[in-house]
Amino acid sequence: MEVKFFKQNKINQLYKSSLINSINALIDGKSAIVFGNYSKEFEKKYSEYIGAKYCSLLSNGLDALSIALKVINVNPGDEIIVPNHTYIATWLAALNLGCVVVPVPVKENNLLIDENKIKQFITSKTKAIIPVHLYGNVTNIKEIREISKEHEIFVIDDAAQAHGSSTGGNKVGNLFNMSCFSFYPTKNLGALGEAGCITTNNLEFFEKINSIRNYGKSLDNSSENIFQGSNHRGDEIQAAFLTEKLKNIENIIQKRKSIINSYKKLENGHTKNKLKIIEYSEGSSPHLAIIKLKNVQVRNSLIKNLRSNNIQTMIHYEIPCHKKQFIKQNQIIISDEVALQAEEISNTILSLPMSEVHDEEEINYVIDCINQFFID
Ligand SMILES: Cc1ncc(COP(=O)(O)O)c(C=O)c1O
Repeated sequence: MEVKFFKQNKINQLYKSSLINSINALIDGKSAIVFGNYSKEFEKKYSEYIGAKYCSLLSNGLDALSIALKVINVNPGDEIIVPNHTYIATWLAALNLGCVVVPVPVKENNLLIDENKIKQFITSKTKAIIPVHLYGNVTNIKEIREISKEHEIFVIDDAAQAHGSSTGGNKVGNLFNMSCFSFYPTKNLGALGEAGCITTNNLEFFEKINSIRNYGKSLDNSSENIFQGSNHRGDEIQAAFLTEKLKNIENIIQKRKSIINSYKKLENGHTKNKLKIIEYSEGSSPHLAIIKLKNVQVRNSLIKNLRSNNIQTMIHYEIPCHKKQFIKQNQIIISDEVALQAEEISNTILSLPMSEVHDEEEINYVIDCINQFFID
């Protein structure tokens, strides 16, 4: 049996006929191609789903993070608190604007930013915290909100992997100043190309986002450019696809949750103590199924073994952000301890196949192969 990591064909079939109708409508001139009905409808439906007042569809998740930082007027040299373990986009948004990133350790059980350690990294230059709801788990909002209030710093959450995740009945996208989502095709709510959005409850932020995404144009007078904006507008075809997929999001979440539950079997029997599955909270919308092995040798030989059994795995993420070649010393404030934790994580994690279209047989096959690996 072959188990692919991302099953593009199967995931997208469900939305095919609806998308074709939307494309026909665009071709036939029944809806505007830029800022048309599809993006307006998606923005309305997604903000309703999240429970946030406003949603702005954008070009992608990195642009969403960059725009959110521009909205709060970051300046070169401002410090931005980020987790030491995340996708590089979280850091790039800050670095591309000349900011300095200040990585904070993550918690061992779920690899999310450790809210109890944030305070010690705050200085007079700290402008914002970017907590990341990595793998679909939700960061601790209560503590982070208190820190932001006490120190008067913004919180922009990186919700790229957390569509539909919630905590205490509140959905991600409705918890901090601005929330940045990615709709990259592999995400739980993935588009058929590039897309992202920001959700917020703040009208002033919303209007500024909408201006910046459209060359900084005034919302009242399109001849006037009130900000040095750019072109980060959302795409109508992606909006049409996402609106259709959004109808299925709860099924997507439930299916992924049930796969995480199946993988939990790996923590029993003879694989006990050989690996750990990161903890997914009750309200999470699991995006990736992450296990943690004892060391890099075991992790890498498991990858090889699974590959020989036709099972694709991935590592999210293999090279820690601070180890990327382009990073210069003056762009980052990091201690050896914080760096070492990120390196240990990158060396020992592994992402197993999981999606709403992986069936029980495939997941059981992955489990059997991992069990067998530890018997041999
Ligand atoms: C945690 C995180 N932040 C930001 C992004 C950036 O999103 P995009 O690829 O849509 O620019 C991603 C997407 O891969 C992500 O996983």
